[in-house]
Amino acid sequence: MLSRPLDKEQFRRWIAEGWRVPMLACYDAPTARSLWEGGVRLLLVGDSVGPVLLGLASVREVTVGMIAHHTAAVRRGAPEAVVVADVPDEAMGDARSVCEAARRLAEAGADMVKIEADSSQAPLVRALSEKGFWVMGHTGHKPQRHEGGSRVEGATAASALRVFHDAMALAEAGASAVLFECVPERVAGEITRRLKVPTIGIGAGNGCRGQVLVAADMLGWYDNPFRFLIRLDDFAGRAKTAAAEYARLVVSGEFPAPEHTFKIREEEWLAFLEALPEEPAGPGEKAPEA
Ligand code: KIV
Repeated sequence: MLSRPLDKEQFRRWIAEGWRVPMLACYDAPTARSLWEGGVRLLLVGDSVGPVLLGLASVREVTVGMIAHHTAAVRRGAPEAVVVADVPDEAMGDARSVCEAARRLAEAGADMVKIEADSSQAPLVRALSEKGFWVMGHTGHKPQRHEGGSRVEGATAASALRVFHDAMALAEAGASAVLFECVPERVAGEITRRLKVPTIGIGAGNGCRGQVLVAADMLGWYDNPFRFLIRLDDFAGRAKTAAAEYARLVVSGEFPAPEHTFKIREEEWLAFLEALPEEPAGPGEKAPEA
C-alpha cells in the first residue's frame, strides 16, 4: 500500500507488484477522514473543488490559494494519507509560477502535485521534479483546456498516438505517475503497459494501475451523467431527508428535548433571578416618572 512519506521504492513496487490503487478527490477534513478510514490512501485535492464544492462556473476560476486552503483541510483530516494537489490553471504559466504554486501546495500539506499537461508542457514537469516535487501528469481530456464534461481523447489512431507521446514525455520529464482522463480503455491499457510509471484512470478503463473519481460523485451528491462514474450512495437524498426531519422537529418544538439542554442548579437560578435588574415597563405600561 502507498503510505507517507512517499519514496521511489514504493513507486517501483507499485509497478512491479501490480497494485491497484483507489484514489478519490475530496476537499475537506471530515470527508478525507471518512475516505481514509474506508481504506483509500491516495487523496486528490482537485481543481474540481471549484464547480463541485464552491459553486464556481469553471475550474479556471480556481486559485492556488483555494487549492492550498483545501489541501490543508484534507491533510488535517487524514494526516497519514498521500495527498495530491492540483496546480490550477492560474499558475500554469512558466516554470517559475508552477514551482511557486507547488511550493505553496507542499507547504499546505501536499505530497505530490498534479498538472494538466501535454508533451509541450513537459518542461514544466521537469522544472518541478528538478526542484524535488513529486509530480502526477494529467493527460487525455484536460478540463482546464476543454471545459464541459467528458471529451474522449485518443479515439482515433492519430489522437491515441498523441496521448501516448504526451504520457511518455511527462514520464521522461520526471512525472512519478500519469493520470488519464477519458481515454479509450485499450489505449490507456497499452500505454500503461509501456510506461515506466504507474497510471491512474478516470474514464480510462480497467487497464490503468489506479482509478480516481470525485468523491462527491461517488457518494451521490450530484446527478452526474458521465458513464465513467459509479454512484455508490445517495448523499444528496439522505441530506434532504435529514434536513426535512430537522425542520419538522424544530417547527413542532420536539427539538431540542431535555437531553439536548444544559441545567442550572435551583439555588443558582434563584440567585440569578434575584440579581437581575428590574424589568423595564412592558408595552402599554406607563414608564415610571424620572
Ligand atoms: O480536479 C479533479 O478532481 C481531477 C480529477 C477528476 C482527476 O482532476
